[in-house]
Amino acid sequence: FGRQLRIRSKTESTQNEALSWAKEGAQEGALVLAEEQTSGRGRQNRPWHSPPGKGIWMSMVLKPKIPLQFTPHLTLLTVVAVCRAIKRVVPVDVGIKWPNDLLVGERKICGILLESFAEDERLLSVIAGIGISVNLDEQDYPEGIKDKATSLKIASGKEIDRATLVAEILYEWEQLYQLYEEQGFGPVRTLWEAQSITIGRTISVNTPYGEVNGVAQGLDESGALVLLGRDGQYRKVFSGDVHFL
Ligand code: BTN
Repeated sequence: FGRQLRIRSKTESTQNEALSWAKEGAQEGALVLAEEQTSGRGRQNRPWHSPPGKGIWMSMVLKPKIPLQFTPHLTLLTVVAVCRAIKRVVPVDVGIKWPNDLLVGERKICGILLESFAEDERLLSVIAGIGISVNLDEQDYPEGIKDKATSLKIASGKEIDRATLVAEILYEWEQLYQLYEEQGFGPVRTLWEAQSITIGRTISVNTPYGEVNGVAQGLDESGALVLLGRDGQYRKVFSGDVHFL
């Protein structure tokens, strides 16, 4: 991963750059990094605050040989890799909120966005975007997200070398991707569950089909989150935002 590399001082979104590069024939593992994004985006078309020089804003081209319905595995795999990398570099207690947010305490430090491109159920490429608030200070956050977000610097009390962290992420990510190709979702699922701060908590998930409440039990083989409701029924959620109750 990262053998083909583009580093930009400023771009709209590294997702867009990686996608056009993929269309021009970028290899699997091609990576775009930007110091600043002018219109970084998050899940569900939310804006992603990407100020200059203090974050890791990057997107990678993946060309997985898996069916389209397995793409959630890649999301979970990516967040596990980033979580492991952060733990190797920074002494912070970071955990995964389903499906792919990294939190310190109740505050978000990293978000992941996967955009898939398929033709006739065949997955052609996936653009995997990672945004990490590395060295942002309190004053770098706009109102609105101030109380929901934090950075590795704020959480650990020290400045983090971004290049070291990127290198660790690429290493962990490639290892896990290979493991997934060889052994399927099982090992990734175990690692995800071990780093999860969602399992065991009473949560509500606002899915496209309405709100689902219950105690989070774990992942099923597709990567869906299994909840146990107060009525004793198990329910699966495939997408949505988790709120801790
Ligand atoms: C989320 O939590 O909603 C996902 C945030 C993903 C942000 C990253 S930053 C690099 C890449 N480029 C983007 O425009 N978004 C992703």
